[in-house]
Amino acid sequence: MAVSIKNIALLGATGSIGLSTLDVIARHPDKYRAAVLSANSKVDELLKLCSDFKPDIAVIAEPEGYPALRDGLKKLGLATQAMSGPQALCDVAAAPEFDTVLAAIVGAAGMPSTLAAAKAGKRLLLANKESVVVAGEILMRAARENGTKILPIDSEHNAIYQCLPSDGNQQAVRRLLLTASGGPFRGRTRESLASITPEQACAHPNWVMGRKISVDSATLMNKGLEVIEAHHLFNIGADKIEVVVHPQSIIHSLVDYVDGSVLAQLGNPDMRTAIAYGLSWPERVDSGVAPLDLIALSRFDFEKADTSVFPCLALAFHALKLGGTAPTVLNAANEIAVDAFLNEKLRFLDIANVIEATLSAFSAEPVRDLDVLMAVDNQARIKAQEFVNKMVMQ
Ligand SMILES: NC(=O)c1ccc[n+]([C@@H]2O[C@H](COP(=O)([O-])OP(=O)(O)OC[C@H]3O[C@@H](n4cnc5c(N)ncnc54)[C@H](OP(=O)(O)O)[C@@H]3O)[C@@H](O)[C@H]2O)c1
Repeated sequence: MAVSIKNIALLGATGSIGLSTLDVIARHPDKYRAAVLSANSKVDELLKLCSDFKPDIAVIAEPEGYPALRDGLKKLGLATQAMSGPQALCDVAAAPEFDTVLAAIVGAAGMPSTLAAAKAGKRLLLANKESVVVAGEILMRAARENGTKILPIDSEHNAIYQCLPSDGNQQAVRRLLLTASGGPFRGRTRESLASITPEQACAHPNWVMGRKISVDSATLMNKGLEVIEAHHLFNIGADKIEVVVHPQSIIHSLVDYVDGSVLAQLGNPDMRTAIAYGLSWPERVDSGVAPLDLIALSRFDFEKADTSVFPCLALAFHALKLGGTAPTVLNAANEIAVDAFLNEKLRFLDIANVIEATLSAFSAEPVRDLDVLMAVDNQARIKAQEFVNKMVMQ
């Protein structure tokens, strides 16, 4: 029987998740094709990927990159069409000829194209957690109304997805247990984090990731964003989601059932497992990830997250309990603060201070529509920048 090839629109192709996805796709040329590749500003990297994967369309989000992309594709003799701008990302996400969208743009910038894919009823492989944090209610409603299959790529949510009942009945679920590595500063005191540099914050012990998510992992905001993401993806209250620090990053998350059964998904810390799961669901394909060697690992450790040292996790729970537009404010403030930290304009410990101050400056409003959310996102970014400017490093 002839097997049809899945045409994948890979948004954020030049990033860490994007490159891992291309690695999995390259292992299965009979099953998957990178039909769309996108980047923000890295034209040369995008051209190199186009040369290797020969997509139908290449999108550069920053319009200034368009001439170099168009001319570069021509020089390479490729038939790939060049497109540019944020609207082009939404257009390719919604285009009927691409059946699967892998949302791997970093930050709220990925939200419009993720939502476009959800509205178009695509198979949506969701790595861009910020789009769920910013617009979870709207995104999940769009997915429900349009028959969109969302397959979580975040390893924790992918683990939970694998451990939940396949019939969708969650009545017997007592808790979701999200595991956290604890990041590069696990076990440290608050005082010892006063002069952390971006390089130290980005040196994650277990995972190789983009710089923004690496800083989020160091502050534990990544886990906070994931708690909000889990709430929306699995339609479960904040009181039923717990975080457990598991430094080995082998147990990717667990589901606790009322009868005392706890189901977990394990594997080496390599995003290609979750990506291959999403691409092949409901089947399984080789991802290139090495088999798990339990004897070599020999032990698993667990501990409580220390929110006195890592207040971002508590701030995310707080925003989720406030509800409405509060998670949008939290995410916007975090993006501004992390960017300032990466550009050495803000101290590591002040990331949480900027977020807390910004959250306090807004009351949580009900999420009526996308326009309201976008306006709140914009205002929160302006306010957070004001706090950054006040706390700026001398
Ligand atoms: N990395 C992981 O292991 C991991 C695990 C779980 C979840 N995630 C989530 O997956 C997403 C991607 O993470 P990552 O680590 O792969 O990030 P990354 O390495 O920084 O890559 C981000 C990608 O998004 C593009 N991009 C950045 N800003 C953009 C904008 N304004 N408009 C359009 N495209 C833009 C980048 O293009 P340029 O290259 O041109 O800048 C790049 O292709 C994040 O939401 C992250 O939380 C990542």
